[in-house]
Amino acid sequence: MKKFISVLLCMLLGLTMVSCGVSENSGEDFTSEDTRKENSDTTAAVSSVSETENITDNSEASKILVAYFSLADEQYEVGIIEKGNTEIIAEIIADKTGAELFKINANTDYPTTYEGLLDISKQEESDPPELAKNVTNMADYDIVFIGYPIWWGDLPTIVKVFLESNDFSNKTVIPFCTHAGSGLSGTQKSVENLCNGAEIRDGLAVRGTTAQNDRDEAEKAVTDWLSELGIS
Ligand SMILES: Cc1cc2nc3c(=O)[nH]c(=O)nc-3n(C[C@H](O)[C@H](O)[C@H](O)COP(=O)(O)O)c2cc1C
Repeated sequence: MKKFISVLLCMLLGLTMVSCGVSENSGEDFTSEDTRKENSDTTAAVSSVSETENITDNSEASKILVAYFSLADEQYEVGIIEKGNTEIIAEIIADKTGAELFKINANTDYPTTYEGLLDISKQEESDPPELAKNVTNMADYDIVFIGYPIWWGDLPTIVKVFLESNDFSNKTVIPFCTHAGSGLSGTQKSVENLCNGAEIRDGLAVRGTTAQNDRDEAEKAVTDWLSELGIS
């Protein structure tokens, strides 16, 4: 009888271990599906970083900066605005991640008309402006969001100057932009080229009109993107 009971106990123990093993394996085998959505207003770019990689684990300890360039006054498709399109997205990101904000500025004033901006932006390509000020404690940040409007299918020159003026090695750098139809337009690669030693994550492109006139849609785009990145 004793022998029978010990055999029964062994069988029960074995069953329990097998069931535990299955449960662990099912956790390891779980792979998240790529839920990235693309539409004409908001687009998440593809980066070289694995889709399953997630930085939620250390987000509590991570210090996050949102550095952005953005202009108010007259802008394409939205008329005269009080707050720049990219600045609106930058503030939503900061609000949702607890990040600090840094506004990238040139040391000269920009024209307040769209036509004027078209001229000055071209001049800047051959005569780059200087930064009005730089981030003094960049070493403190683990994650840096870089925001900008698309200018001529590229980064505005002052954003290139900002990226060249800082050391992003060993940081996670995440681009976002507003635009009038171009999307990120390859700028994720430009950011990568200017941020040596940084890990570049999937960028977000939001249409300027969406940022300016459809707050709910803009918030949703940011929330979905942060969630895909594992930062929220
Ligand atoms: C000089 C200049 C060049 C631009 N070039 C492009 C472009 O190539 N593609 C595009 O989609 N939008 C372009 N735009 C539109 C801006 O990207 C868009 O209006 C953006 O939302 C402005 O953001 P901001 O208010 O944060 O500066 C351009 C705007 C300016 C002023």
